[in-house]
Order: sequence, then structure tokens, then C-alpha cells
Amino acid sequence: MAGGITTPQLVAAVANHGGVGSFGFAYSTPEKIHADLVAAQSLTSGPINANFFVFSPVRLPSEQTQTEVIRALRSLGVDGVRSLSIPAEPFYPDLMKQLEPIWSARPAILSFHFGLPPDEVIAKAHALGIIVGISATSLAEALAIESAHANFIVAQGIEAGGHRGQFDLQVKDETLSTLELTAQLAKHCRIPIVAAGGIMNGAHIQNALAKGAQAAQMGTAFLCCDESGTTPSYRHYLLHKQDRPTTLTKAFSGRLARGLENTFTLTMQDQTTLPFPIQNTLTGPLRHWAVAQNNAEYQSLWAGTAYAQVRSMTTKDLMQQLRNEIKVQR
Ligand SMILES: Cc1cc2nc3c(=O)[nH]c(=O)nc-3n(C[C@H](O)[C@H](O)[C@H](O)COP(=O)(O)O)c2cc1C
Repeated sequence: MAGGITTPQLVAAVANHGGVGSFGFAYSTPEKIHADLVAAQSLTSGPINANFFVFSPVRLPSEQTQTEVIRALRSLGVDGVRSLSIPAEPFYPDLMKQLEPIWSARPAILSFHFGLPPDEVIAKAHALGIIVGISATSLAEALAIESAHANFIVAQGIEAGGHRGQFDLQVKDETLSTLELTAQLAKHCRIPIVAAGGIMNGAHIQNALAKGAQAAQMGTAFLCCDESGTTPSYRHYLLHKQDRPTTLTKAFSGRLARGLENTFTLTMQDQTTLPFPIQNTLTGPLRHWAVAQNNAEYQSLWAGTAYAQVRSMTTKDLMQQLRNEIKVQR
């Protein structure tokens, strides 16, 4: 989970208690990636996954659209929008540079979101004994992942918190649930399926396994763990504002992502955005201002549809509880 949530302490605690601890390195610099991997590896010898975004080439839209987008954000009228400006190139980090620390630190797993990485990346990972996983939201994407020689597919259902991993935004989103997608992929794909989306407890894990998944990927379930980097106001909303629905919004980053509805998502819902990830850079100062103000109404509160079942405890205790829940089910 990108955005400072997957701290080395969280990743290591998951890996030390029977899971695979995952870093979301989406926008991170190579230096930060190196530092986080080294820090986690000093705390665990368990399996670590390093996750990256596969960005697509992107251009700024017309000046008229840029002005429209800035105007919409300024109309929010909060201090956090005062210093917003149209981002300049490069619009996203260079994946090859981001991966350099991977080749030396060699985490057990490398995973990708939003598409296929270059073939040579998968080949290099395999040569170094690193397993590769890629997320899919449809059977067509899963078959492309299999053809690219990845080792596993993350079946990301519509319930999932964070960004939809769709490859091509021009293709209609099938919006399949986690269990529907898992069953479909298990039937048609030969490589292992990892189910993701709305999985919060042992029963959910078992439901995914029953549909043919080999493992479950859980994001939201870890957001309120002690070791998680979730901001205090975000955590407060997850635990105490549970009447809020989640919503899929493009307003923070320019691509659809699921999080708690707040003033920002509601006010911006019909507004034009810059393309991903330029919109993400554009809204960065507003989100940072909101964190500093302890104001969750203007932060991206990424969470899956089942967030009300989130537990506030140590990662060790959550992993133990999940194990116990699975045993009870058997
Ligand atoms: C806060 C947050 C950040 C996320 N960041 C990423 C990311 O950087 N890369 C990625 O592949 N998936 C990311 N996801 C999606 C997760 O990998 C996973 O699909 C999702 O958490 C599963 O659904 P759940 O949140 O209901 O457990 C994120 C999810 C959340 C909640």
C-alpha cells in the first residue's frame, strides 16, 4: 500500500508472523526504496514483496482544461489549495531506476499494478530467483499476465481499497467482485491466483480459497495495525465514522481508486481531472496540508468496501487472529 502506510515495521511484522509483507513503492525514489528494504530486512528474514506501478505515457491536456481543473480545486476554498500549480515533467518515476535497489536487496517477490512491466524486468527477476506477480481486474488481463510469464495473478475485485489495477482505461471495466473474478481466473488460468478485495477475516480468506485462490492479499485489514503508517485522522475515520460509504473516485489521482467518501470526493465528483498521475502530483500539497491539519475531509482515505471490519491491534495479534479464524472454519 503506497502513501507511507507500509512501513518497514508493518512489512516485517507481517513477514514474521506467517504472511508476505508488502511495500507499496508506487511513487518512491530509489533511495527511499533501498532504505525501506534494508530496514525491513534487518527486522525479518521472512518473505517481502515490493510493489510498483506500471505508469503509461501521459501528456498535459489543453490549457483550458488545466485552468478548469485548477479552478475546481481552488473553489474548495481551503488553505490547502492556495499553492497548487500544474506539475511539470517528468510526470512519474522511472521504473527501471526504481527497480535498481530491488536487484541488490532481492526481496522474495516483485509485483506490479496497472499493467505489465517490460519483459526484461520479469526475466531479470526470474534470473535472480525473485517471484513476479501482477494484478488483474479481468480475465483478459489475467491471460496477458500469464503470457508474460509472471508467476502469479492478483485477482483484484471491485471491493478492493486503493486504485483499480485496470491495464487500459479505454476498455470497459467489468467491475467483477473478488469471488467472481477469482473463480473465473482459477478456471481459465494455469498460474496461482491471489484474491484481493474485501478480505478482512479468516472466513473471507477461506471463501477465496474455496473459489480457487492459492492465497489472499489484504490491504484495508492492516490499516489500523499499530505498525501501519496510516495518519491519525484517517485511522479515526476508519474506526469511528463507519456510517460512511466507500466510493470510487478519480479526483485525487486521475484514476479510479476506492476510499471513504469525504468532502473532497463529494465536492469533486463531477469535476474534470488531469490524467493519472499528474492529478496526484497536483493534489499532493492539498493532501499534505490536510494531514498537517489533522483534517481527513481532504485526505485520500483509501479503503475497501468491508473497512468497517478493520481491527485496531498489533500486526502480530491480527495475524494470530486470522490464523485462529481459519482453524475454526476448517
Ligand atoms: C491504502 C491502500 C493503498 C494501496 N496501494 C496499492 C499499491 O500501491 N499497489 C497495489 O498494487 N495495490 C494497492 N492497493 C490495493 C491492494 O493491493 C489490494 O488490492 C486491496 O487492498 C485489497 O482490497 P482490501 O483493501 O479490501 O483488502 C492499496 C490499497 C489500499 C487500501
